Amino acid sequence: MSDRYAVIGNPVAHSRSPSIHARFAKQTGQDIEYGRLLAPLDGFVEAVERFRDAGGRGLNVTLPFKLEAFAWAARRSGRAQLAGAVNTLRFDRDGARGDNTDGAGLVRDLEDRLGLALAGRSVLILGAGGATRGVIGPLLEAGVARLTIANRTPSRAIELVDDFLRAAESRAPAGSALPGTPLPAGRLRGCGFDDAGGGHDLVVNATSAGLAGERLPIADALLAGAVLAYDMFYAARETAFVAQALAAGCPRACDGLGMLVEQAAESFLAWRGVRPLTAPVYEALRAEAA
Ligand code: ATR
Repeated sequence: MSDRYAVIGNPVAHSRSPSIHARFAKQTGQDIEYGRLLAPLDGFVEAVERFRDAGGRGLNVTLPFKLEAFAWAARRSGRAQLAGAVNTLRFDRDGARGDNTDGAGLVRDLEDRLGLALAGRSVLILGAGGATRGVIGPLLEAGVARLTIANRTPSRAIELVDDFLRAAESRAPAGSALPGTPLPAGRLRGCGFDDAGGGHDLVVNATSAGLAGERLPIADALLAGAVLAYDMFYAARETAFVAQALAAGCPRACDGLGMLVEQAAESFLAWRGVRPLTAPVYEALRAEAA
């Protein structure tokens, strides 16, 4: 019988993960089955334990359960600890291991597919929710020189930075390249949209504004001055943020489909010990969406 995996969320019907993992499995010759698991909003733990007890080997976790998955996991990777959230569960003999592959997925997509070396760069992230929290550690580890988190509600960005620094102090993974905590003053900063400063090489949208097709209330100059604008969300059509960035004069903008494929590849690696090639899967999904 094939080893069973699934993505658990609510809603989950729209998830592209089954299609991505089916392609990875075919490509690498791994005998797995990967489905969708819709859990009731108040029934995450029960659904996970039922899946595990029926022989399931691992789960991807999507909204709104990443914090519950973090709390439930018996062990957590260093990057999950820094993210404060888990998107990948692996059911080991000695308990469930929680990992977070979102940030690694973003870094890989930026550096490998898009060719943007992050070391020494100034990066601006818009938004201060869970999506942002998941990527701070991996961006710093990739050597970003300045990471600014700007949010509509400035206090949330400031709190997020404080929370992250506290987590980094107490939980920085052994061998982490997070260069010494506390981080040098100014390397990581939270603020409002109006105080985001200038000179950012990369602007990343991690807000949920695009889901409603809303424009972000940020200055065009922030986007025009960047080499790349990156939307952590993706859609079959051009996202609102990609459209806004290009209209503002940013030379290059892309959505988060690549991040989705890369975070899936990291999960696949954690489960199967094999790293699939992502480029052909990205191309296939892009073509499918079009
Ligand atoms: P999650 O944890 O899933 O990322 P969240 O905590 O609701 O979700 O965070 C959503 C983010 O999108 C927040 O940074 C939110 O800004 P506020 O903290 O000010 O609410 C941001 N956001 C959502 N809609 C927005 C909009 N129309 N304009 C600007 N920011 C928006």
